[in-house]
Amino acid sequence: ARKIRVAVMGAGGVGSMFLQRCLEWSDLIEVDRVLVRDPSKRRDHPLAGKFTSDARSFARADVDVFVDIGTGVSPSAELLEQFLKLGVGVTSANKQAVAAVHGKLKDAAKASGAALTFSASVGGGAPVIEALLRAVKSHKVKSIAGVVNGTSNFVIDQVEAGKTFDAAMDEARRLGFAEPDSTADLDGTDVGAKLRLLREIAFPGVTPVHVEVGAITAESLVIPKGKGLRYVARAIMTSKGLEVSMKLEELPADHYLVGAKGEQNRAIIELENGEFWYVTGKGAGAWPTSESLLADTLDIARGLKG
Ligand code: HSE
Repeated sequence: ARKIRVAVMGAGGVGSMFLQRCLEWSDLIEVDRVLVRDPSKRRDHPLAGKFTSDARSFARADVDVFVDIGTGVSPSAELLEQFLKLGVGVTSANKQAVAAVHGKLKDAAKASGAALTFSASVGGGAPVIEALLRAVKSHKVKSIAGVVNGTSNFVIDQVEAGKTFDAAMDEARRLGFAEPDSTADLDGTDVGAKLRLLREIAFPGVTPVHVEVGAITAESLVIPKGKGLRYVARAIMTSKGLEVSMKLEELPADHYLVGAKGEQNRAIIELENGEFWYVTGKGAGAWPTSESLLADTLDIARGLKG
Protein backbone atom coordinates (compact mmCIF):
# COMPACT_ATOMS: atom_id res chain seq x y z
CA ALA A 1 0.00 0.00 0.00
CA ARG A 2 1.05 3.60 -0.52
CA LYS A 3 2.72 5.20 2.48
CA ILE A 4 1.07 7.98 4.46
CA ARG A 5 2.94 11.18 3.67
CA VAL A 6 3.15 13.72 6.46
CA ALA A 7 4.44 17.26 6.90
CA VAL A 8 5.40 17.93 10.51
CA MET A 9 5.83 21.19 12.36
CA GLY A 10 8.02 21.10 15.47
CA ALA A 11 10.91 18.93 16.61
CA GLY A 12 11.03 19.70 20.34
CA GLY A 13 10.24 17.15 23.06
CA VAL A 14 6.97 15.87 21.61
CA GLY A 15 8.06 16.49 18.01
CA SER A 16 11.25 14.45 18.36
CA MET A 17 9.30 11.56 19.84
CA PHE A 18 6.73 11.73 17.05
CA LEU A 19 9.47 11.74 14.39
CA GLN A 20 11.11 8.78 16.09
CA ARG A 21 7.82 6.87 15.99
CA CYS A 22 7.49 7.74 12.27
CA LEU A 23 10.97 6.32 11.67
CA GLU A 24 10.02 3.14 13.55
CA TRP A 25 6.92 2.90 11.35
CA SER A 26 8.72 3.88 8.17
CA ASP A 27 7.03 1.14 6.15
CA LEU A 28 3.74 2.91 6.89
CA ILE A 29 4.58 6.60 7.30
CA GLU A 30 6.87 8.84 5.28
CA VAL A 31 7.95 12.19 6.72
CA ASP A 32 8.14 14.54 3.74
CA ARG A 33 9.27 17.71 5.55
CA VAL A 34 9.69 19.11 9.04
CA LEU A 35 9.31 22.79 9.91
CA VAL A 36 11.73 23.93 12.63
CA ARG A 37 13.05 27.28 13.78
CA ASP A 38 16.72 26.59 13.06
CA PRO A 39 17.56 23.56 10.86
CA SER A 40 21.33 24.11 11.39
CA LYS A 41 20.91 23.00 15.02
CA ARG A 42 19.64 19.62 13.87
CA ARG A 43 22.34 18.35 11.53
CA ASP A 44 22.72 15.08 13.45
CA HIS A 45 19.03 14.15 13.31
CA PRO A 46 18.26 11.11 11.08
CA LEU A 47 15.69 13.27 9.26
CA ALA A 48 17.95 16.35 9.08
CA GLY A 49 17.71 16.45 5.28
CA LYS A 50 13.97 17.07 5.57
CA PHE A 51 14.24 19.99 7.99
CA THR A 52 13.33 23.47 6.80
CA SER A 53 12.59 26.82 8.39
CA ASP A 54 10.58 28.09 5.43
CA ALA A 55 7.06 28.48 6.84
CA ARG A 56 5.78 30.41 3.83
CA SER A 57 5.92 27.57 1.35
CA PHE A 58 5.36 24.81 3.89
CA ALA A 59 1.64 24.32 3.20
CA ARG A 60 1.34 22.29 0.01
CA ALA A 61 -1.19 19.67 -1.04
CA ASP A 62 1.43 16.97 -1.64
CA VAL A 63 0.96 15.28 1.75
CA ASP A 64 -1.89 13.34 3.38
CA VAL A 65 -1.63 14.87 6.84
CA PHE A 66 -0.16 17.99 8.44
CA VAL A 67 0.98 17.22 11.98
CA ASP A 68 1.16 20.40 14.05
CA ILE A 69 3.41 20.08 17.09
CA GLY A 70 4.16 23.79 17.26
CA THR A 71 3.80 26.07 20.27
CA GLY A 72 2.17 29.48 20.40
CA VAL A 73 -0.55 30.69 18.07
CA SER A 74 1.61 31.59 15.07
CA PRO A 75 2.53 30.09 12.63
CA SER A 76 0.54 26.99 13.65
CA ALA A 77 -2.81 28.75 13.24
CA GLU A 78 -2.01 30.00 9.72
CA LEU A 79 -0.55 26.67 8.62
CA LEU A 80 -3.48 24.66 9.95
CA GLU A 81 -5.87 26.87 8.01
CA GLN A 82 -3.76 26.79 4.84
CA PHE A 83 -3.46 22.99 4.87
CA LEU A 84 -7.19 22.56 5.51
CA LYS A 85 -8.02 24.91 2.64
CA LEU A 86 -5.80 22.79 0.41
CA GLY A 87 -7.83 19.75 1.42
CA VAL A 88 -5.10 18.23 3.61
CA GLY A 89 -6.19 16.66 6.91
CA VAL A 90 -4.56 18.05 10.03
CA THR A 91 -3.87 16.94 13.57
CA SER A 92 -2.66 19.39 16.18
CA ALA A 93 -1.16 19.15 19.65
CA ASN A 94 -1.06 22.95 19.82
CA LYS A 95 -3.97 23.86 22.08
CA GLN A 96 -3.15 27.61 21.99
CA ALA A 97 -3.41 27.77 18.20
CA VAL A 98 -6.49 25.57 17.89
CA ALA A 99 -8.29 27.40 20.70
CA ALA A 100 -7.48 30.78 19.15
CA VAL A 101 -8.81 30.03 15.67
CA HIS A 102 -11.09 27.04 16.19
CA GLY A 103 -14.05 28.63 14.35
CA LYS A 104 -11.93 29.50 11.30
CA LEU A 105 -10.45 26.01 11.20
CA LYS A 106 -13.89 24.43 11.43
CA ASP A 107 -15.09 26.55 8.49
CA ALA A 108 -12.02 25.69 6.41
CA ALA A 109 -12.44 21.97 7.16
CA LYS A 110 -16.11 22.10 6.28
CA ALA A 111 -15.46 23.89 2.99
CA SER A 112 -12.78 21.47 1.77
CA GLY A 113 -13.93 18.28 3.46
CA ALA A 114 -10.51 17.79 5.05
CA ALA A 115 -10.24 16.33 8.55
CA LEU A 116 -9.61 18.66 11.48
CA THR A 117 -8.39 16.74 14.54
CA PHE A 118 -6.67 17.79 17.72
CA SER A 119 -6.98 14.86 20.16
CA ALA A 120 -3.44 15.47 21.41
CA SER A 121 -4.14 19.05 22.43
CA VAL A 122 -6.23 18.06 25.45
CA GLY A 123 -5.59 15.10 27.73
CA GLY A 124 -2.41 13.79 26.11
CA GLY A 125 -3.15 10.08 25.92
CA ALA A 126 -6.44 10.40 27.81
CA PRO A 127 -9.17 10.35 25.15
CA VAL A 128 -11.03 13.39 26.51
CA ILE A 129 -11.76 14.99 23.12
CA GLU A 130 -12.61 11.66 21.54
CA ALA A 131 -15.15 10.91 24.30
CA LEU A 132 -16.66 14.38 24.11
CA LEU A 133 -17.00 14.21 20.32
CA ARG A 134 -18.76 10.90 20.70
CA ALA A 135 -21.01 12.26 23.45
CA VAL A 136 -22.22 15.24 21.42
CA LYS A 137 -23.04 13.02 18.45
CA SER A 138 -26.07 11.57 20.18
CA HIS A 139 -26.51 13.39 23.49
CA LYS A 140 -26.71 16.80 25.06
CA VAL A 141 -23.85 17.52 27.43
CA LYS A 142 -24.69 19.18 30.72
CA SER A 143 -21.24 19.60 32.17
CA ILE A 144 -17.62 18.67 31.83
CA ALA A 145 -15.12 18.63 34.65
CA GLY A 146 -11.53 17.55 34.42
CA VAL A 147 -7.93 17.48 35.51
CA VAL A 148 -6.31 18.45 32.20
CA ASN A 149 -2.90 19.77 33.23
CA GLY A 150 -0.42 17.04 34.06
CA THR A 151 2.30 19.34 35.37
CA SER A 152 0.21 20.96 38.11
CA ASN A 153 -1.35 17.66 39.09
CA PHE A 154 2.10 16.08 39.35
CA VAL A 155 3.27 19.00 41.50
CA ILE A 156 0.26 18.75 43.84
CA ASP A 157 0.97 15.04 44.39
CA GLN A 158 4.70 15.62 44.90
CA VAL A 159 4.05 18.38 47.44
CA GLU A 160 1.61 16.10 49.22
CA ALA A 161 4.37 13.48 49.34
CA GLY A 162 6.70 15.98 51.03
CA LYS A 163 8.67 17.58 48.18
CA THR A 164 9.04 21.34 47.92
CA PHE A 165 7.04 23.17 45.29
CA ASP A 166 10.15 24.30 43.37
CA ALA A 167 11.73 20.84 43.39
CA ALA A 168 8.46 19.34 42.11
CA MET A 169 8.25 21.92 39.29
CA ASP A 170 11.87 21.21 38.32
CA GLU A 171 11.07 17.53 38.17
CA ALA A 172 7.98 18.19 35.98
CA ARG A 173 10.17 20.21 33.60
CA ARG A 174 12.84 17.53 33.54
CA LEU A 175 10.25 14.85 32.74
CA GLY A 176 8.97 16.93 29.81
CA PHE A 177 5.49 17.57 31.23
CA ALA A 178 5.72 21.35 31.54
CA GLU A 179 5.07 23.97 28.88
CA PRO A 180 8.09 25.85 27.40
CA ASP A 181 7.11 28.70 29.74
CA SER A 182 5.96 26.72 32.76
CA THR A 183 3.97 29.59 34.31
CA ALA A 184 1.31 28.59 31.76
CA ASP A 185 0.88 25.35 33.70
CA LEU A 186 0.15 27.22 36.93
CA ASP A 187 -1.80 30.37 36.05
CA GLY A 188 -4.67 28.87 34.06
CA THR A 189 -3.24 29.64 30.60
CA ASP A 190 -2.77 26.00 29.60
CA VAL A 191 -5.99 24.80 31.19
CA GLY A 192 -7.87 27.80 29.78
CA ALA A 193 -6.94 26.91 26.19
CA LYS A 194 -7.88 23.28 26.77
CA LEU A 195 -11.19 24.14 28.41
CA ARG A 196 -12.00 26.50 25.57
CA LEU A 197 -11.60 23.63 23.13
CA LEU A 198 -13.71 21.33 25.26
CA ARG A 199 -16.53 23.83 25.53
CA GLU A 200 -16.39 24.59 21.80
CA ILE A 201 -17.18 20.91 21.28
CA ALA A 202 -19.70 20.52 24.09
CA PHE A 203 -21.41 23.93 23.79
CA PRO A 204 -20.55 25.32 20.34
CA GLY A 205 -20.89 29.07 19.98
CA VAL A 206 -22.02 29.61 23.58
CA THR A 207 -20.35 32.50 25.40
CA PRO A 208 -19.92 31.83 29.13
CA VAL A 209 -21.88 34.05 31.50
CA HIS A 210 -19.29 33.58 34.22
CA VAL A 211 -15.58 32.68 34.16
CA GLU A 212 -13.40 32.13 37.22
CA VAL A 213 -9.64 31.58 36.96
CA GLY A 214 -7.42 30.64 39.88
CA ALA A 215 -3.66 30.22 39.90
CA ILE A 216 -1.48 27.70 41.67
CA THR A 217 1.24 29.05 43.95
CA ALA A 218 3.51 27.37 46.48
CA GLU A 219 1.36 28.93 49.25
CA SER A 220 -1.93 27.70 47.80
CA LEU A 221 -0.82 24.07 47.87
CA VAL A 222 -1.93 23.17 51.35
CA ILE A 223 -3.32 19.69 51.15
CA PRO A 224 -6.43 19.45 53.32
CA LYS A 225 -6.49 16.51 55.78
CA GLY A 226 -8.63 13.63 54.59
CA LYS A 227 -9.45 15.38 51.34
CA GLY A 228 -7.93 15.75 47.89
CA LEU A 229 -6.72 18.91 46.18
CA ARG A 230 -7.07 19.20 42.41
CA TYR A 231 -6.85 21.99 39.82
CA VAL A 232 -10.19 21.41 38.13
CA ALA A 233 -11.49 22.78 34.84
CA ARG A 234 -15.29 23.00 34.71
CA ALA A 235 -17.91 24.08 32.21
CA ILE A 236 -21.51 23.70 33.38
CA MET A 237 -24.68 24.61 31.55
CA THR A 238 -27.00 26.06 34.19
CA SER A 239 -30.38 27.81 33.97
CA LYS A 240 -28.43 31.09 33.95
CA GLY A 241 -26.10 30.06 31.13
CA LEU A 242 -22.67 28.52 30.73
CA GLU A 243 -20.51 28.81 33.84
CA VAL A 244 -16.80 28.18 33.54
CA SER A 245 -14.11 27.82 36.16
CA MET A 246 -10.54 26.62 36.48
CA LYS A 247 -9.13 26.64 39.96
CA LEU A 248 -7.92 24.58 42.90
CA GLU A 249 -10.77 22.63 44.50
CA GLU A 250 -10.94 20.58 47.66
CA LEU A 251 -12.65 17.33 46.80
CA PRO A 252 -13.59 14.18 48.72
CA ALA A 253 -10.60 11.81 48.89
CA ASP A 254 -12.46 9.18 46.86
CA HIS A 255 -13.53 11.62 44.11
CA TYR A 256 -12.80 10.40 40.57
CA LEU A 257 -10.65 13.45 39.81
CA VAL A 258 -8.57 12.95 42.98
CA GLY A 259 -7.82 9.51 41.53
CA ALA A 260 -5.85 11.19 38.72
CA LYS A 261 -2.35 10.54 40.03
CA GLY A 262 0.79 12.43 39.04
CA GLU A 263 0.67 13.62 35.43
CA GLN A 264 -2.48 11.62 34.70
CA ASN A 265 -5.46 13.42 33.19
CA ARG A 266 -9.10 12.63 33.93
CA ALA A 267 -12.47 14.01 32.93
CA ILE A 268 -16.11 13.51 33.82
CA ILE A 269 -18.69 14.22 31.14
CA GLU A 270 -22.23 14.67 32.49
CA LEU A 271 -25.07 14.21 30.03
CA GLU A 272 -28.53 15.82 30.18
CA ASN A 273 -30.02 12.32 30.47
CA GLY A 274 -28.29 11.80 33.82
CA GLU A 275 -25.47 9.59 32.56
CA PHE A 276 -21.85 10.20 33.55
CA TRP A 277 -18.92 9.26 31.32
CA TYR A 278 -15.47 8.86 32.85
CA VAL A 279 -12.21 9.29 30.95
CA THR A 280 -8.71 8.61 32.19
CA GLY A 281 -5.22 8.22 30.76
CA LYS A 282 -1.63 9.37 30.71
CA GLY A 283 -1.69 13.15 30.40
CA ALA A 284 1.41 15.21 29.82
CA GLY A 285 4.58 13.87 28.27
CA ALA A 286 6.10 13.18 24.89
CA TRP A 287 5.00 9.55 24.73
CA PRO A 288 1.22 9.84 25.29
CA THR A 289 1.05 13.01 23.20
CA SER A 290 2.84 11.52 20.22
CA GLU A 291 0.73 8.34 20.46
CA SER A 292 -2.36 10.50 20.26
CA LEU A 293 -0.96 12.35 17.21
CA LEU A 294 -0.16 9.04 15.55
CA ALA A 295 -3.66 7.74 16.18
CA ASP A 296 -5.21 10.84 14.56
CA THR A 297 -2.75 10.63 11.64
CA LEU A 298 -3.69 7.02 10.93
CA ASP A 299 -7.41 7.75 11.31
CA ILE A 300 -7.19 10.63 8.84
CA ALA A 301 -5.21 8.57 6.33
CA ARG A 302 -7.74 5.74 6.60
CA GLY A 303 -10.56 8.19 5.98
CA LEU A 304 -12.05 7.62 9.41
CA LYS A 305 -12.16 11.33 10.21
CA GLY A 306 -13.21 14.33 8.18
N1 HSE B 1 2.11 21.19 29.99
C1 HSE B 1 0.98 20.36 29.66
C2 HSE B 1 0.55 19.61 30.90
C3 HSE B 1 1.35 19.41 28.57
O1 HSE B 1 1.29 19.59 31.87
O2 HSE B 1 -0.55 19.07 30.92
C4 HSE B 1 0.21 18.61 28.02
O3 HSE B 1 -0.74 19.43 27.41
